[in-house]
Amino acid sequence: MKVLLLLFILTTTFHVWGHGGEDHSKDVKQPKVVKANAEIEEKYIRINQEYLKTVKPIFQKSCFDCHGNTTVYPWYYKIPGVKQLIDSDIKESKKHLDFSKDFPFVSHETPIKDLDAIGKSIKNDSMPPFRYLIMHGDKKLTKDEVKQVDKWIRESKEMLK
Ligand code: HEC
Repeated sequence: MKVLLLLFILTTTFHVWGHGGEDHSKDVKQPKVVKANAEIEEKYIRINQEYLKTVKPIFQKSCFDCHGNTTVYPWYYKIPGVKQLIDSDIKESKKHLDFSKDFPFVSHETPIKDLDAIGKSIKNDSMPPFRYLIMHGDKKLTKDEVKQVDKWIRESKEMLK
């Protein structure tokens, strides 16, 4: 039953979740380290240290199946049609944000914009996507985890100001 519901949601909402066929193929894959000087690199290192300690374990649990390089494929991955949807979900998510190399993340935005986007996605509960939570209810961020990520984002943004 859950699988049918998942299939239904995947097929009906997939295009809504995506960005309407926006072409990302020309996007730069590396973080834009605009002010690439020693001072800012030092800040990134400090932000990453805190990320590794408090935030990464949360992201590993809740985000890495799509935005990381440690995807645990579910048993229903083998169902015809599902494989393509999951593959394209992972591809699409990494075009936006790839957590596999730690902070600063690989994306086509600046680190500050990435932090903002993550903060927003967590606050309005849009990540992980609902279609994923149907099968992985335990991957939803707890209130405490939201607080920890939020704190890290606030402190990091303060540092990068
Ligand atoms: C089931 C796969 C999946 C999981 C798990 C997932 N995401 Fe995503 N994420 C996507 C996809 C697909 C996109 C791109 C399309 C979209 O915005 O919905 C995306 C986009 C994003 C964006 C960019 C939005 C923007 O403004 O461009 C952020 C930020 C994000 N995810 C954060 C997270 C975080 C943080 C987690 C874990 C708490 C997470 N995601 C878990 C699939 C996933």
